[in-house]
Amino acid sequence: MALSKDIPGRSLMERSLPVPASKVRRQSSPFLVLPRQTRLDELWRRMRKAGEATVRAAVREDVVRAITRVPDEKGPAEPPATIKVRAVVTVRQKSKEDLKETIVRHLDALTDRIGRNVVLQLVSTELDPRTKAPKMSREAALQNWSEKLNVKSEIVQYTAEFTVDSSFGVPGAITISNKHQKEFFIQSMMVEGLACGPVHFPCNSWVQSKKDHHGNRIFFSNQSYLPSETPAGLRALREEELRNLRGDGKGVRKLSDRIYDYDVYNDLGNPDRGIDFARPTLGGSKIPYPRRCRTGRISADTDVHAESRLEKPNPLYVPRDEQFEETKMNTFSTGRLKAVLHNLLPSMKASLSANNKDFNCFSDINSLYNEGLLLKVGLRDELLKKFPLPRVFQESSHGLLKYAIPKIVSKDKFAWLRDDEFARQAVAGINPVNIERVTVFPPQSKLDPEIYGPLDSALKEEHILGNLNGMSVQQAINENKLFMVDFHDAYLPFLDKINALDGRKAYATRTIYFLTPVGTLKPIAIELTLPPGEPSSQSRRVVTPPADATTNWIWQLAKAHVSSNDAGVHQLVNHWLRTHAVMEPFILAAHRQMSAMHPIFKLLDPHMRYTLEINALARQNLINADGVIESCFTPGRYCMEISAAAYNSFWRFDQESLPADLIRRGMAVPDASQPYGLRLVLEDYPYAADGLMIWSAIENWVRTYVNSYYPDAILVCNDMELQAWYSESVNMGHADLRHADWWPTLESPEDLISILTKIIWLSSAQHAALNFGQYPYGGFIPNRPPLMRRLIPEEGDPEYTNFLADPQKYFLSALPSLLQATKFMAVVDTLSTHSPDEEYLGERQHPSVWSSNPKIIDAFCEFSAEMRRIEKEIHKRNSDPRLRNRCGAGVLPYELLAPSSEPGVTCRGVPNSISI
Ligand SMILES: [Fe+2]
Repeated sequence: MALSKDIPGRSLMERSLPVPASKVRRQSSPFLVLPRQTRLDELWRRMRKAGEATVRAAVREDVVRAITRVPDEKGPAEPPATIKVRAVVTVRQKSKEDLKETIVRHLDALTDRIGRNVVLQLVSTELDPRTKAPKMSREAALQNWSEKLNVKSEIVQYTAEFTVDSSFGVPGAITISNKHQKEFFIQSMMVEGLACGPVHFPCNSWVQSKKDHHGNRIFFSNQSYLPSETPAGLRALREEELRNLRGDGKGVRKLSDRIYDYDVYNDLGNPDRGIDFARPTLGGSKIPYPRRCRTGRISADTDVHAESRLEKPNPLYVPRDEQFEETKMNTFSTGRLKAVLHNLLPSMKASLSANNKDFNCFSDINSLYNEGLLLKVGLRDELLKKFPLPRVFQESSHGLLKYAIPKIVSKDKFAWLRDDEFARQAVAGINPVNIERVTVFPPQSKLDPEIYGPLDSALKEEHILGNLNGMSVQQAINENKLFMVDFHDAYLPFLDKINALDGRKAYATRTIYFLTPVGTLKPIAIELTLPPGEPSSQSRRVVTPPADATTNWIWQLAKAHVSSNDAGVHQLVNHWLRTHAVMEPFILAAHRQMSAMHPIFKLLDPHMRYTLEINALARQNLINADGVIESCFTPGRYCMEISAAAYNSFWRFDQESLPADLIRRGMAVPDASQPYGLRLVLEDYPYAADGLMIWSAIENWVRTYVNSYYPDAILVCNDMELQAWYSESVNMGHADLRHADWWPTLESPEDLISILTKIIWLSSAQHAALNFGQYPYGGFIPNRPPLMRRLIPEEGDPEYTNFLADPQKYFLSALPSLLQATKFMAVVDTLSTHSPDEEYLGERQHPSVWSSNPKIIDAFCEFSAEMRRIEKEIHKRNSDPRLRNRCGAGVLPYELLAPSSEPGVTCRGVPNSISI
């Protein structure tokens, strides 16, 4: 991680001299700190400039003059010479420190003077012909550490001076020994004074004290090498660094460790707190699941197979460089998420749980945006003090916390009530990945009837015939007019258990849609299934569009149950499992098996940023027993079992490309004559239409990159690090599915392009499409209730009379309570927030690490330019009145795949990685 995770900062390149273009990578400015609006243009301009023209070197005149000849004592042979070179080390300081840290810092400054200092050593890319060992400079200490003790700026630069033979060659690595007590953060290093020009070492990593971590830290230059091309002088270090990152798989991880390893999800429950808080281990033959980052914590007292819990505010272990950068902590989305989870939610619970009431009327919900949420007197000051960035929770004059108006009610207050909007969200909302084309009617279950009983659908032709514009059902199927969102198999196996929970009620739903002549969808039937034998209810029921007041309310309740099913599958399967959780093994394996100097590591690195950190935070607070997800979603304690069931029976890596997924769902058909090799069956399908543009742009960029390093298949097959990465991702990270026959092979550049495109797509666009609309669509609870508390009453039910007497009250009592709703809103608001320093697809904070190869620079520039073109095209589509699923009176534009965004909750923007 360390070498190519790049952050803004200063560069010595700003005061440099011209050198040949062949040295471009080392000499181009490594850091870009630009206003958001100009970043892409400026990035493109600078990179083109770097690729075409001269750039500046940083060889200082005094350093050049320091090259001295050793007196020739033995005749006319060329005398050896020594060169003075200098390393400039850019250190980023913490902005805040506690008393203990201040004392240790002062002590370090004192002891630095007497030799307990920071020592660097240069390692050449060449071997010494006499010793056959890498050429090493003498050790040199960082100078003036104590003198710079009181420098207050974020960035401080130190230097170390070396004397090396003129035959030293190019430095390819620097080792660092930190004899201080305290860790420090190195942003970058640069070595200047050599004939080859300045050599850059992007670091962005914590260097631990020698007392905590024996051995020296190793940083490599920004030159990338396939393993077989590693210069002789760096081979041993390359292997050593990977061994360090893999660790030995033993012991409890310290927060200062940099070890990437695997474990199962045996840390979600807390059996020591009681049986209600025990949860099954996810991962293993019993319940297959992807692996997570190993922390090595001791087992629980009452269950040796469960890891003991570490409760907030103590952070779970993630490798040191995966943790948030301290200086930006409070402005990061996850920093705010922590504040919400650790401070706001407990306060809300304390304030509201004693009087946990329903919403009495819709104006109660609206008042959350207008007046605000009244919490207990006395919490206010403490809360506001702790809460770092209350975007949503503006202080109101009457209440304490005021929520922002979600987009879904901002343009049309009543859109959520309408069927066309309900259907539109299936193709342009936050869960546009469950809709499928109907090929068989009635739909069929894939569950085992031996276990679940008769599984025939209750849907009959007569339920939908009147809404097919005169077509027969078969005709509608043949003409691709029937679509479906089918949650039957995801929920039915869990319904008995869910419905036995206090205050949780669910059906397994299927919704049938008809494609209208204007290209919109219309829901025409909803099938509601309960397990056989559910008391007082028929187990299968079909609800059709309303004909009167009573059926209107029934229809609204049925849609609410569908939305609740949808919210659960969206969160547990499509968002958490299919992006966050499945990516973690690929990231762990990348760090363990591919050197930071590996070109594929460099390609993937921006797409791995902070994913381990946000996933750890989720394990601690969101998906854990009694965590936010369990308390806010209908399946309660069975939430993660639903997630695991989908991993076992549905998830396939080979089907996670956008084209394959669309074809699997029947939403597209292969068509070689079309731009992306397929034709959308539903033309105005905003997620798919925009997604295909981004998919294709990623694929083109990856293809150019991969072909540049792997001109033929043999190179792919013989790349031991690359093969080890993929093999370990599958065999260890996804160990429970390792024998599946659908795993793609990695034997050619095309295989690699396909695998990498999927990974980058999932980390960027797919996650963005599923993540950043959560508050805009879900922040108005009736539009998308995450939890339902009542079934739909039927004639003869005791509740039916109450329902007839006051249907609005019944409807609201079926939705989440005030506490459940406001908790959920607080969390999804934060999950939908972009950080101010978000890095979007097509942007790199450190373009110079990519390559000195002009083809690679050009390809990345083209990728960036393509993102801008896509953004314009999306804007155009959102203004096209023919596209009624994204344009029309009060219709929200579809911007979730528009690449750029301002900070905050914008319902748009595609970050490079899963970081929230
Ligand atoms: Fe997310």
